[in-house]
Amino acid sequence: MLELRRVVRRYGGVEALRGVSLRVRRGETLSIIGPNGSGKTTLLRVMALLDPPDGGEVICGVERGKVTMVFQQPAFFNTTVYRNLAYGLRLRGRPEGEVRKEVRRALSLVGMRGCEERRAGELSGGEKQRVSLARALALRPELLLLDEPTSNLDPRSTRLIEGVIEEVREECTVVLATSHPFQAARLSDRVVCLFEGKVLAQGTPREIVERPKGRIRKFVRGEW
Ligand SMILES: Nc1ncnc2c1ncn2[C@@H]1O[C@H](COP(=O)(O)OP(=O)(O)O)[C@@H](O)[C@H]1O
Ligand SMILES: [Mg+2]
Repeated sequence: MLELRRVVRRYGGVEALRGVSLRVRRGETLSIIGPNGSGKTTLLRVMALLDPPDGGEVICGVERGKVTMVFQQPAFFNTTVYRNLAYGLRLRGRPEGEVRKEVRRALSLVGMRGCEERRAGELSGGEKQRVSLARALALRPELLLLDEPTSNLDPRSTRLIEGVIEEVREECTVVLATSHPFQAARLSDRVVCLFEGKVLAQGTPREIVERPKGRIRKFVRGEW
């Protein structure tokens, strides 16, 4: 569905991605794990076609409008939850009846039905993250990119979000960036391990997280 070949991305003098090659297969859930600053967000932005690479290639087998990224820090318009979710659908020219239906469906998926008229800015951190996920789901993406969707959330909100990801991955290709290897193992088919802008290893959750060998083992345990 998406292939990156030797992708480089720089911020001024900083090389945030240093020749990343990987593939996302249609229907899979792929996790990108790596410590803070390893390049996860930069990589997701390139995969979401938001930022062009400074080197290498991105080969995309999916329509741009079918790719949606959920950011680590959700940003909303200063209005209701309903209008925030409706925005993207209206932009795509959907009739109001359909907008209503899709907004309802998306809010139900994340357990936020009934919150339509609350102001988005007044939600709690966990609720914001759920509504942000619902906003992406309302667009029925084929490729959903999630940037650390549970960082800073309490255990209950984390479980809720993880439950939604488990449902969503049945019908959509998902790329999940997380700094928690065990979350990656729980939620994905394949794990790519990023370190200082390079792919250190990739494999199944078992190979990378549960039974890692050698330096991957140290990495997963935070002993690098
Ligand atoms: N807007 C930016 N300007 C300058 N440097 C940045 C910017 N965004 C990220 N970086 C740098 O790029 C590297 C990778 O960052 P990032 O992709 O945010 O990593 P992660 O998401 O894994 O924490 C880090 O060294 C970070 O400081
Ligand atoms: Mg990040």
